[in-house]
Amino acid sequence: MGIKEATIRSPEKGRMLHVDPRTRGQALVERFRAAMARTAAGVVIITTHGPAGRGGITVSSFCSVSLDPPSALACINRKSATLRLIEANGVFAANVLAQDQAALAAAFATAGATHEARFRQGVWRDDAPGGPLLKDAVAHFDCRLARTFDYGSHRIVIGDALDAASHEARPLIYAERGYHKLP
Ligand SMILES: Cc1cc2nc3c(=O)[nH]c(=O)nc-3n(C[C@H](O)[C@H](O)[C@H](O)COP(=O)(O)O)c2cc1C
Repeated sequence: MGIKEATIRSPEKGRMLHVDPRTRGQALVERFRAAMARTAAGVVIITTHGPAGRGGITVSSFCSVSLDPPSALACINRKSATLRLIEANGVFAANVLAQDQAALAAAFATAGATHEARFRQGVWRDDAPGGPLLKDAVAHFDCRLARTFDYGSHRIVIGDALDAASHEARPLIYAERGYHKLP
């Protein structure tokens, strides 16, 4: 940028605040990653099936968007092979993992593993419209791909819920770069 000090407008009073140059660049990325590592999240395997084939990816970015219409999003790296399949199939399912399913989270996060190799772990059913559903997951969301937005390295993938279900089980938590159980 060639600017030593950036200014931003304070949302409350419209004041201009000085932004310390140290808050930009690599140092900021590292602080951002450290702060995000403390931000606990559920662990979700997003799956898809259809004419382009089936695939699945582990994400922690799955969350609700709106109740009207019932909709949810995940932020997926634009280089993801699973993203291509979701877009080609136009549907996806979100499987929220239970606390004893951390091995599945690792399987669906293994770079370079084929999708069929990933699906060898766990018990999956293929009769839902959105994507394969995992037995004993805490919750399932079946979605039709509604909209996507690109931001930086990732694509925000929004789905309208075709169906949703929840089950009596405790969720797996991802925080501080590891898997945890609720106390
Ligand atoms: C706990 C956890 C959460 C993750 N969250 C995301 C996420 O929100 N978005 C994403 O694009 N990748 C996420 N990943 C990384 C992907 O699972 C990983 O890059 C995967 O290999 C991508 O597979 P694909 O390229 O075959 O689609 C996460 C991995 C782990 C272990």
